[in-house]
Amino acid sequence: MDYSNKRRQFIKGSALTIASGAFSGLLPRFGNAQSSKIKVGFMLPYSGTYANLGVGIENGFRLFVQEKGGKLAGREIEFIRVDDESDPSKATDNANKLILRDKVDLIVGTVHSGVAMGMVKLTREAGILHIIPNAGAAAATGALCSPNIFRTSFTNWQAIYPLGKHIYSKGQKTAVWVTWKYGAGDEAGEGFKEGYISVGGKVIKELAIPFPSMEFQSVLTEIAFLKPDAVACFFAGAAGAKFIKDYAAAGLKGKIPLYSSFLTDGVLDAVGTDAEGIESTAHYGDSLQIKKDKEFRIAYAKAFKMQPDAFGVQGYDSAQLFAIGLDAVKGDISNKAGMIVAMENAKIDSPRGVWTMSKAHNPVQDIYLRRVVGKENKVIGIAHKALADHARGCKMT
Ligand code: PHB
Repeated sequence: MDYSNKRRQFIKGSALTIASGAFSGLLPRFGNAQSSKIKVGFMLPYSGTYANLGVGIENGFRLFVQEKGGKLAGREIEFIRVDDESDPSKATDNANKLILRDKVDLIVGTVHSGVAMGMVKLTREAGILHIIPNAGAAAATGALCSPNIFRTSFTNWQAIYPLGKHIYSKGQKTAVWVTWKYGAGDEAGEGFKEGYISVGGKVIKELAIPFPSMEFQSVLTEIAFLKPDAVACFFAGAAGAKFIKDYAAAGLKGKIPLYSSFLTDGVLDAVGTDAEGIESTAHYGDSLQIKKDKEFRIAYAKAFKMQPDAFGVQGYDSAQLFAIGLDAVKGDISNKAGMIVAMENAKIDSPRGVWTMSKAHNPVQDIYLRRVVGKENKVIGIAHKALADHARGCKMT
């Protein structure tokens, strides 16, 4: 990995901006810009299957800012929101609304990997600070990594890679993989297979339906016919809830154990007992014995009258990361190079546990093993300690 060139360019770039500002007699860097509000643009899904994920992320971000009295590094924060509808074909237009029309200082987005890829292509060109609060697309912190792009969630590989070893350890030697056919589903599938096959598991069939379809009947019929020892899947949000219900209604619950990464996050109130016993891996879960998590959960429940989930944590940590950058430059958002160095060295005191940033700008973090017990994704162990993504192809140039 070569991270050095791009950084040099970035630092050179900001030095030039500063120098030309001084030369042309513009206001000094700590003048006017400091008194205006900092604009944060949320580009998130507020409709469709991922709507609750978008809301959770925004809530988490706002909670942190509220806890700081509505200001970061002494500067007021203004929020602007765009509903990206989890539609990759609208990604460029939607990101440009925030970048060109609203001239935001930071863009926070998004949930869907395909939409995030559209954003990354723009933000790495524009050099605008971009925090990805969910989408796990590998390239964002891989081949398309960039000094101005940070992720506070996971890569699709990272969240599910440890799952296969766990399934195999239970004596379940064959599995069917089922997902939506799009970037996140494909990458989660690769991660699952890598882990499961490496310990001796056999994936006997891979099934997929288009995103965001909730028509699960054909894949459920095929699973019943194939009778694998286990089923592993990637679905999330409202469709995840429907998959859990349909799996039980098809008579598969209790016969073929169902596993996943994010299937059961944020949906347990909606699915009743149909999710009971489903096991999964992810970077967050319920009943963690972490002081920061206990405080976060109380504050989140008080502010939003609901329990937080992984998505709320990702939003909260996005704000924490931004605050670390802003504090380092005393609120001078024009000092992007200074912010980037601080954000790269950040140690985030997260409700999920403390995590650090990899060189490619993706969290290095523990991946938990969880089991649904009642309304909780109860943490029952650590599936992989301090797991870092491969960051394949990341050259900061
Ligand atoms: C993604 O598209 O990267 C994605 C979406 C929802 C999740 C996880 C990953 O829960």
